[in-house]
Amino acid sequence: MDDYSPFLCLFFVNNQKKVLQVRQEQLDTVIPLINRRRSILKNPNLELNVAPFSYIDFLLDLKVDGCDSVPTDPEFITLCSELINGGTDTTSIAIEWAMARIIDNPNIQDKLYKDIVSMVGDHPVDDPDLEKMPYLQAFIKELLRKHPSMYFSMTHTVVEAAKLGGYDVPPDANLELFLSMIVEDERLWSKPLEFNPERFISGEETTDITGSAGIRMILFGAGWGRGYARAWRWG
Ligand code: HEM
Repeated sequence: MDDYSPFLCLFFVNNQKKVLQVRQEQLDTVIPLINRRRSILKNPNLELNVAPFSYIDFLLDLKVDGCDSVPTDPEFITLCSELINGGTDTTSIAIEWAMARIIDNPNIQDKLYKDIVSMVGDHPVDDPDLEKMPYLQAFIKELLRKHPSMYFSMTHTVVEAAKLGGYDVPPDANLELFLSMIVEDERLWSKPLEFNPERFISGEETTDITGSAGIRMILFGAGWGRGYARAWRWG
């Protein structure tokens, strides 16, 4: 709140202290881990059984456009927590809803089971198998359509004046999209409030999850590059 109305910061002094303390604990915990990885990269024989590649390796090589210096350690940690925060709550919410839908509808469970077993039998499911399981694909799409893990998109800053839904949006405005409204729009979906994976099987309803060919739902963000790896998997 006080980001938007600075005079309110007086009411949040204690919260700020607590947040700064948590941040300090985060730095104290993670910086030694980053330094350890730096040492391993310099000398791969330093420890046994090291991961061949880690997300932090990518960050250590990161070059930000228009910036001469490399990111600082606190900036690395912010990027790491963005990934952890972005990946945990969303995924656990999706899994909880999947379980709820399966428990509520044994017929769906049966179809999922047959789809998976017909593809892999008793073997563990591997990434490439997912492409060949039409019902599982349809179920996941319907799950994420009906139960978006986030009701609002992240805040996006408008870089140039635009028109959205008939409204003028000025440059520098902060925009958050109400994602559920899109997937409950009867102009875009038939019976949008029903949970029905078959809508994606019959071919009557399709979706381009990347959002590059028109937007009917925004699951991972929209447009190329936004959550693209995940969107592509289910596209
Ligand atoms: C069911 C799974 C997931 C769903 C539904 C989901 C959905 C979303 C959505 C809607 C956004 C906001 C995009 C925007 O407003 O532009 C987002 C951002 C993000 N997600 Fe996910 N996500 C999922 C899984 C993950 C996973 C597994 C990771 C990482 C391992 C991840 C990392 C991120 C990050 C880093 C952002 C911020 C991107 C940015 O700042 O531009 N997400 N996600």
